[in-house]
Amino acid sequence: MSKNPSIPHHVAIVMDGNGRWANKHFLPRAAGHKEGVKAVRNTIETCAKAGVKVLTLFAFSSENWNRPKSEVVSLMNLFVSSLEKEVNKLNENGVRLKFIGDRTRFSQKLQDKIEESENVTANNDKFLLNIAANYGGRWDIVQACKSICRKVQDQQLKMEDISEQEFSNYLSTSTIPDPDLFIRTAGEQRISNFLIWQMAYTEFYYTDVFWPEFDEKQLHIALEQFSQRKRKFGLTQEQIEANSNA
Ligand code: IPE
Ligand code: IPE
Ligand code: MG
Repeated sequence: MSKNPSIPHHVAIVMDGNGRWANKHFLPRAAGHKEGVKAVRNTIETCAKAGVKVLTLFAFSSENWNRPKSEVVSLMNLFVSSLEKEVNKLNENGVRLKFIGDRTRFSQKLQDKIEESENVTANNDKFLLNIAANYGGRWDIVQACKSICRKVQDQQLKMEDISEQEFSNYLSTSTIPDPDLFIRTAGEQRISNFLIWQMAYTEFYYTDVFWPEFDEKQLHIALEQFSQRKRKFGLTQEQIEANSNA
């Protein structure tokens, strides 16, 4: 892949602001999350049309368990009902679903839905929808370390052979290239323990728009900004230009 394509191959999004959107409309927070699902649908379609190949959505962080129990319950119910409603259509449209994060903490019912949605869509290759659920970037790094240690202990891997490339093979995103564009809605400018290893060279885009209001137009603004960025990966501008003329 070229180093400066104008369309990002992989977009990663922190979908933030559902609660504030609900507040603004005098609705309960759960209504904000429900409204957010519409923006998810829209974003998948718009990304696919624009030529993006992988979309990673932060749906639930490992820290979100600390929210009020009623909110956690309503989010879990929303995950189950959204999977029930959306998977067939996604499958018909050639979307492959993948989940990253520690799914063992979810109810058996949700774990089954997740597995089923991955299995049903496993052969699709048009577009990859990667959902980060009970995901934490630090968790990902620690679980990768544990797998590596186990391999070294079993003498299947030599310590000298642990490179950055080798390490990334043990992350939950091992089969996916790093994100090119990170988007966070609702004004906060932080990673919140998302893909901390994988976003070492990702372009960041922030907008004040709340997630339920993030529509096609908003996504196009983000994509347009991305196309103007000059990614240098540590090189000088002159080197980049020489490489692109080669
Ligand atoms: C993002 O919206 C959705 C999840 C974290 C699940 P928030 O619920 O964080 O919305 P705000 O930040 O309270 O507005
Ligand atoms: C990050 O949003 C997690 C998701 C969007 C799922 P938060 O709203 O939980 O992040 P903080 O708490 O503002 O950092
Ligand atoms: Mg938030």
